[in-house]
Parts: sequence; structure tokens; C-alpha cells
Amino acid sequence: MITNKQSTGIRGLDKMLHGGLVPGRAYIVSGPPGSGKTILSSQFLVDGVEGGERVLFVALEEPPNELKYNFRVFGWPIDGIEVLDANSDIRRFEPTPILEISTEEEPVRFSLIRDDIRKTPDVESHEVSVHSLQQLLKSLFIKRGYSRVVIDSMTALRYFCMKDFEENISTQSFMRFLAESKVTTLLTVETTEAMEMAPEAFLARGEIRLYKVRDESGIKRFISIEKYKGSTHDESIRPFDITPKGIVVHAG
Ligand SMILES: Nc1ncnc2c1ncn2[C@@H]1O[C@H](COP(=O)(O)OP(=O)(O)OP(=O)(O)O)[C@@H](O)[C@H]1O
Ligand SMILES: [Mg+2]
Repeated sequence: MITNKQSTGIRGLDKMLHGGLVPGRAYIVSGPPGSGKTILSSQFLVDGVEGGERVLFVALEEPPNELKYNFRVFGWPIDGIEVLDANSDIRRFEPTPILEISTEEEPVRFSLIRDDIRKTPDVESHEVSVHSLQQLLKSLFIKRGYSRVVIDSMTALRYFCMKDFEENISTQSFMRFLAESKVTTLLTVETTEAMEMAPEAFLARGEIRLYKVRDESGIKRFISIEKYKGSTHDESIRPFDITPKGIVVHAG
């Protein structure tokens, strides 16, 4: 048993993972829209900053000011989390060019993000290709020594930053880069009902899957560990709630 596991910041999830995550690896957090992927991943970063670690949120789906606003209800100490705004405004234009992100971009701390005003994205008028993002992250990892990173989401990265014909090869190369970086990374992936498995999952060292079920009393949420290389884990599907303090997993 590996003893130096890294906490996810969610006690019940750590229990399901038999202690937490094996550090330095990349994991998928998959689930349908609104299942809690962004909240879960952010809680993992909050746990890092609380422990004095340097952590990075790569925002590809929601602008940092909206993230900051959404996180407010949880009262988390997010100020020290660094955020890279890789949201591209290219989605407004058709046809979508694949743009280059500058390798000079610098993430900023959430404390500097104003929650009322959407700053122009860092990458505006540059291109955001997966290759340039990879180059940027590579230099940031060396310069800043992050111990935890969240990429939210791989779905957006695929959709906006890769050309169709190279999606699989680019994803593979990106996952390999993360594996070699030795930074513990959570990658969110949006699943659809038709999807048996997130395409990235077979390249990741583990997959945490979220489920959202609607019944007469409202939305119920569940979580499972679909895969976890190098560790035993809870094989059950457990219920979880999004509470005013964040995600609480009822791990039995
Ligand atoms: N304070 C809160 N209390 C309870 N539930 C909340 C709270 N804040 C958000 N939620 C729920 O969490 C959902 C959003 O969670 P999150 O953004 O993590 O989902 P996601 O899986 O990342 O979704 P997407 O794929 O759309 O990005 C909301 O739709 C809402 O149902
Ligand atoms: Mg999300």
C-alpha cells in the first residue's frame, strides 16, 4: 500500500480511494453537465493551497470571474489558487480557427480577479492550440513548481483547441506530457448518456465518475471510482451532496 497519498480535499472520496490519490499522476473526473466536476476539482486545489502548496486552475470553460463568483457560496480560501484563463473568445466566430496561445502568458491569483467584470481573456487574439497550451504549461511547471493542476475541461480542450483529424493523437500527447510532468492533475471530461467511457480515461491513471439522477424529490448525485492504477479502492457507487461547504461524499 502506498502511504504518501495526496488528499482530494473530500474526506469521503479519500476513503473511497483508500487514502487519496497517488501523487504525480493524471486522473479523469467524468460526468454529465452539472454533476459537480468543476466543484470537486476545485476542492482538490483548495486542499492544496490550505497546505501551502502552489496550485493551478486552467479554465477552458468558464471565465475566471464567473468561477470566482460561483465559488463564493462555499467560503473557500481560493485567493491563493492561480488561474490561467484559456477561455477563448474564438467560439463566437465561425469558422473556428485554431489559434496559438502565447508561451509568455502568466496565470494570476484569484485574489486579483474581479468577480464583477469579465477581463478580456488572456489569450484573446492569440490562438489556443493544444500544442501551445502544452508548451505554456511545460514552462509554467518548471518556473512555478505546481503540485496540483486542474484542467477544466478536456472536453473544451478537444472541442476548441484541436483539429478533428488530430484529436486522438493530440490527446495522447497531452496525457503523456502530464504523466511526465509528475504533477497531480485532475482533468474534467463531460460525458453524454451514449458514452460508455470517456475517451481520455484509458490514458489516465484513474477515473472518478460522477452521476446525476433525477427523481420525484429532485436531483441525486452519486460517485464511483471506475479505475485506479496502483491502488485498491472502494468499488461501490456512493451518494454525495453539494453542500454549502462543498462536496460531501457519503462513503459508508
Ligand atoms: N451551493 C450549492 N449548493 C448546492 N448545489 C450547488 C451549489 N452550487 C452549485 N450547485 C450545483 O452544482 C452544479 C454545478 O456543479 P459543477 O459546475 O461542478 O458541475 P460540472 O459537472 O462542472 O458541470 P459542467 O459540465 O456544466 O461544467 C449546479 O448545476 C448546481 O446543481
Ligand atoms: Mg464544469
